[in-house]
Amino acid sequence: MLKVALTKGRIEKKVTTMLEKLGYDVTSMINKNRELQINVEDKMEIIFAKSNDVVTFIEHGIVDIGIVGSDTLLENSFKNYYELLDLEIGKCSFAVCSYPEYKNIKLNRRKRIATKYPNVAKKYFESKDEDVEIIKLEGSVELGPVVGLTDAIVDIVETGATLRANGLEVIEKITDVSTRLICNKTKFKYKKEEILNLIDLIENNNR
Ligand code: PRP
Repeated sequence: MLKVALTKGRIEKKVTTMLEKLGYDVTSMINKNRELQINVEDKMEIIFAKSNDVVTFIEHGIVDIGIVGSDTLLENSFKNYYELLDLEIGKCSFAVCSYPEYKNIKLNRRKRIATKYPNVAKKYFESKDEDVEIIKLEGSVELGPVVGLTDAIVDIVETGATLRANGLEVIEKITDVSTRLICNKTKFKYKKEEILNLIDLIENNNR
């Protein structure tokens, strides 16, 4: 039985569909209410967690594999894991977004940038030799420019609907983001066959 930590929310829904396509009986995932841990047949024991916690459970050897967005991996300096596969689901990108006027603004102060991903934002602006002030928000980052707190945001853009609904647009794409399958380094040694079989199944059936 493989122990899996799965990121709750959007990724969870996409992974449920993926596992169903692979032939797993996902009734327990679909019928889950507030349970945090369920079994998929006698093949997987899945825990549902916030993205950063998925990696924490991997790093502490609580689970064998984790399913998490590359945004989380890029933002944090986690080390004790192998990234085994790009699941090519949950595709989106990191981008600098603002009002169309942002491109032409000239300020006599540092630009202010709201983000849930301060490390990604810092690295990006450093790579452009731009000295900006980064303000961390926990969610609905688009509020930064909407309420006048910041000039722009660094955030995930999937469909662009949230940006459009708030009069914002992508100014510059930073990098692609997608869902990754990661593994605890030690567990990989002990469960190599089971893990590689799952990867084969995904690669042969889901592409
Ligand atoms: C994410 C992201 C954007 C939105 C982008 O937020 O931070 O707000 O999704 O998706 P879209 O391009 O399809 O509109 P999420 O819904 O995860 O919630 P949050 O803003 O509270 O973090």
